[in-house]
Amino acid sequence: MMDYTDRHCRFIHRLYSPHALLYTEMIVAAAVVRGDARRLLAYGQSEHPLALQLGGCDPRELAAAAKIGASMGYDEINLNVGCPSDRVKSGAFGACLMLNPPLVAQCVAAMSDAVSIPVTVKCRIGIDAREDYEFFAGFIDTVAAAGVRCFAVHARNAILKGLSPRENREIPPLKYAYVYRIKRERPDLQIILNGGVQDCAAAAAHIQAGADGVMLGRAVCQRPALLGELERTLIDPDWVVPDPMQVLEQVVVYARDQLRDNVRLHSIARHLHGLLAGASGARAWRRFLSEVAGRPDAPAETLLGAADILRRAA
Ligand SMILES: Cc1cc2nc3c(=O)[nH]c(=O)nc-3n(C[C@H](O)[C@H](O)[C@H](O)COP(=O)(O)O)c2cc1C
Repeated sequence: MMDYTDRHCRFIHRLYSPHALLYTEMIVAAAVVRGDARRLLAYGQSEHPLALQLGGCDPRELAAAAKIGASMGYDEINLNVGCPSDRVKSGAFGACLMLNPPLVAQCVAAMSDAVSIPVTVKCRIGIDAREDYEFFAGFIDTVAAAGVRCFAVHARNAILKGLSPRENREIPPLKYAYVYRIKRERPDLQIILNGGVQDCAAAAAHIQAGADGVMLGRAVCQRPALLGELERTLIDPDWVVPDPMQVLEQVVVYARDQLRDNVRLHSIARHLHGLLAGASGARAWRRFLSEVAGRPDAPAETLLGAADILRRAA
């Protein structure tokens, strides 16, 4: 998720779930190929398994970016065919690529030729007026024929004219039936359901209904402990979800390290806002983070200044 799932966020999310596949923000292929890829794609070893999500529509550029990602040890390369923002539209990639399945097929074929790790696709179920199941299935078939075995499907249309990116995540109705059906009719493909999954019960129900997995965005960012609950519910019944204080202690160690590389504490602390989500003390904790940990030269230990709020909540 852009401006969200950077390496600091992923470090924290990994504390909650050893097995979840984590994704980078969407990174534009041209930036990887022409920019400072080592810096742009840097991550920590604890983040594995980790997918690099690329945006782009030039097969050669995407292949080159995928190759760089694979050489840096990413576990999967994912192509974004679901983002509806203006910036993405003007670059003619993201969700609008759903209107051009042969180009997406060319892109993923070039990427797959360039790397030996899986190349996957994140898409919507349709775009603008194309909201029929046949359109969606046709897109999946064309792209699967180019070698993609796994699709993460945000189960709503993208509306490029008239809706903001935010509205595009809320207004077009969720049609989970499309996702279940494509899995039923294309059993060899791995189909991951995305969109509006809020809790463990819903996640389990989608898997029961046929999805191979679920992808969560906002709910986990708002309350990362949900990721731990999912790990316990879906993967390891013995998993003990770390409590806020345990997470904080590990983040302080991590932050000490990062601050030596000139990272500001705020860049890490901003991902801790949901640490107490739903628990008492949540508001005081958020206020503390904004006021104290936001200071320009705050050391890592600053985070322990409100540890009593966390201990009380644990
Ligand atoms: C702030 C924000 C940034 C996002 N950035 C990306 C992105 O970079 N790549 C992507 O595939 N989806 C992105 N998304 C969409 C989410 O991955 C997800 O498809 C969408 O929010 C629906 O899932 P959810 O209901 O679990 O949040 C973003 C969503 C938000 C809220």
